Amino acid sequence: MAEKPWVRMVTAQTPTNIAVIKYWGKRDETLILPVNDSISVTLDPAHLCTTTTVAVSSSFDQDRMWLNGKEISLSGGRFQNCLREIRARACDVEDEEKGIKIAKKDWEKLHVHIASFNNFPTAAGLASSAAGFACLVFALAKLMNAKEDNSELSAIARQGSGSACRSLFGGFVKWIMGKAEDGRDSLAVQLVDEKHWDELVIIIAVVCSRQKETSSTTGMRDSVETSLLLKHRAKEVVPKRITEMEEAIKTRDFESFAQLTCADSNQFHAVCLDTCPPIFYMNDTSHRIISCVEKWNRSEGTPQVAYTFDAGPNAVLIAHNRKAATQLLQKLLFCFPPSSDTDLNSYVIGDKSILKDAG
Ligand code: ADP
Ligand code: DP6
Ligand code: CO
Repeated sequence: MAEKPWVRMVTAQTPTNIAVIKYWGKRDETLILPVNDSISVTLDPAHLCTTTTVAVSSSFDQDRMWLNGKEISLSGGRFQNCLREIRARACDVEDEEKGIKIAKKDWEKLHVHIASFNNFPTAAGLASSAAGFACLVFALAKLMNAKEDNSELSAIARQGSGSACRSLFGGFVKWIMGKAEDGRDSLAVQLVDEKHWDELVIIIAVVCSRQKETSSTTGMRDSVETSLLLKHRAKEVVPKRITEMEEAIKTRDFESFAQLTCADSNQFHAVCLDTCPPIFYMNDTSHRIISCVEKWNRSEGTPQVAYTFDAGPNAVLIAHNRKAATQLLQKLLFCFPPSSDTDLNSYVIGDKSILKDAG
């Protein structure tokens, strides 16, 4: 008699992260090894996160994936690399409740189905690839009972999307570029947890939720090939900034933090302009937000808010505390009233948080 089909499922939820010292440029395209270290802050999963369910069943005859309800191809190298790396680390699974037993060697033959949802715009410069691949790797590792810790998993998530390695931790996180040719030391470490600097308030101003024209992958490839500023940045600028940023975070020095964050975002967008053909991720509304924050910070004498923009027009605004956040919202509402015809259409308010395992 044929064995009754069975299914085992795991669901995980992972927040996105926003870099305050940016990763832009790879020295190895396949392994996804960066040209510089980067530092990010992980957001609250209640606001911007990916939820991924992975299932394995004796009745599945191929690996399949649905993203935001639409089936997508898993044939790309990045998905294949993540699946292969986790499968290689799979262990025996014994689910007594469901009466399922999967031996380590069975994982080679079994297929998975993956359903993933982002609760925020996909491919619009709010790091959907970061939350997406971190969540995928984390969920697969749980499904297959892989014993690796989050740092080891970060080196696998990195092979899905570079920025994903930083979403395996909450708080402030550093992606160490590493030296090894096989990429084993290119992984994320937590600098401080989400409680360390909990007066910070992060506000995301969604300027435009449309998919960007140039993906991060293509954009940074073009920058590596054509931008001299990128070379200077990676070698001469970022190493010093990383040290200063770590110090600013440890000592909760908002003035240095804001100065470094804004300068690094501006230099990253300058690299995009220095690329041939030039890449324009920010738009007029983004520029107006920068002017508004710069003017306010100068008038106060000391920075109240830091701004940073990833590969898209949407602003990530980090306020020193709740008072500054309240004032910032008032200013944004004044400059971009809801009835105006600018394309700023929502604010998402949140603070930092840690990865939640919903499995
Ligand atoms: P973003 O700025 O949103 O990170 P990218 O261009 O870096 O934009 O990456 C977008 C790509 O990331 C998508 O086309 C898709 O391949 C992948 N991605 C986004 N969300 C997910 C998800 N939840 N699970 C797996 N991959 C995802
Ligand atoms: C501007 O991680 O999306 O957000 O590694 O090619 O998937 P791939 O690129 P991705 O690039 C992120 C670039 C950035 C800066 C950052 O997150 O550090
Ligand atoms: Co991305």
